[in-house]
Amino acid sequence: MRSLNLIHETEVRAKTAGSLARYERSQRSLAGGVSSGLRRAARPYPLFFERGAGSRIWDVDGNEYIDFGLAWGPLILGHAPPKVSAAIAEQAAKGLTFGAQHELEYLVAERLTEILPCADLVAFSNAGTDVVNVALRLARAVTGRPKYLKFEGHYHGWGDQALVSYRFGAEHPLGQPEAVGKGQLPHEHVLVAEWNDRAAVEQLFAEHGPEISMVACEPLLANSGCVPAEPGFLEFLREISTRYGALLLFDEVITGFRVALDGGQGRYGVTPDLATFAKAVGAGTPLSVLAGKREYMDAISRGEVVHAGTLNGNPLALAAAAAALDELATPGFYERLHTLGNRLREGLEALLRAKGHAVVTTGDGPVFQVAFQETVPRNYRDTMAADKAKYSDFAIGLLNQGILVLPDGRWYISGAHTEADIEATLAAAANAL
Ligand SMILES: Cc1ncc(COP(=O)(O)O)c(C=O)c1O
Repeated sequence: MRSLNLIHETEVRAKTAGSLARYERSQRSLAGGVSSGLRRAARPYPLFFERGAGSRIWDVDGNEYIDFGLAWGPLILGHAPPKVSAAIAEQAAKGLTFGAQHELEYLVAERLTEILPCADLVAFSNAGTDVVNVALRLARAVTGRPKYLKFEGHYHGWGDQALVSYRFGAEHPLGQPEAVGKGQLPHEHVLVAEWNDRAAVEQLFAEHGPEISMVACEPLLANSGCVPAEPGFLEFLREISTRYGALLLFDEVITGFRVALDGGQGRYGVTPDLATFAKAVGAGTPLSVLAGKREYMDAISRGEVVHAGTLNGNPLALAAAAAALDELATPGFYERLHTLGNRLREGLEALLRAKGHAVVTTGDGPVFQVAFQETVPRNYRDTMAADKAKYSDFAIGLLNQGILVLPDGRWYISGAHTEADIEATLAAAANAL
């Protein structure tokens, strides 16, 4: 792929000069030139976009792309979904935020408690990171225990206690917690196991059981290779948490309203004590949700656990969520999303294999991973075998063909994608190769 890749990269650079000029200007006033560190990974440089509609997005140079990055997941209905955009505009005319109560709060909360198995009560914030932090605090408060257990490669936002053992090198000792960036507070209260490793979880509970407040996981390890829980593993986490009096948190920031209306907990049939949502629930607006069982969430109701935020429950995001939920609840919405996702995933895999590449795909319908490696990963360490440079070459070839994908191999499908989009993408991928 290498020499072909140079051609692709040269061609992409030639038609995205406007983005490069803006990126250079941006770096002079905006730290790193991007608003979230991960966006720097884009090749050949972060592109600047002007508008999106449905499954399409246009950059400042007028190039059109079919978008499978979907803003890193939130755009479950695609770009600028008309009913959601109209609901936001209607609300904006009535007020941007009140910093006080309004009807949309309980209307959306009631919908969520009807939809989500674990939700007796919900609380709103703006980002996934916020609600994970409240969940960690809540678990410590209700159990009186300081530690929590997480899994290598799982991402739970960028809070000091959450951003641990997410990315590290293969030489890193098994099960040793590791902060991702500098300046994070010490993480002596974080215990780490490999995903799908029952024995490690058993052992950590045997050693630290009375100190563990919560087990946290993405029910599908979407952030590192889209690695599913093996059969029985989520049930095992449910059982062992209960056995030791710890809470179970499903971080559904990606799986929520994406793999099913009722998220991973509904689709995989295991009900956690707490669950966190962001991304798809706001359909592109800053909305996050902590959902949980009443006996725990009541610590927030009583004011014992602080959950605060100037823009929490803001009417713009809740108007968007209310409109989005109507569409997501349409019968057949998720079946269609899974059909399209599976078609694309299988098509890409077949195409790459036919060209002689060792490739595996993993995931669940509307969110999946394409990785150049021999064996199917069952945890984060296994995903390190993937040839990331090769994927990056593939991604730039796709970009040159008008297909926008995330740099890390994850693909998202929205309700705005069509069968024609999928077929056009497979044809473009064949061209790129
Ligand atoms: C599973 C998971 N949890 C938490 C977060 C943090 O959410 P946010 O970026 O909205 O703070 C993310 C973000 O990608 C995520 O994927």
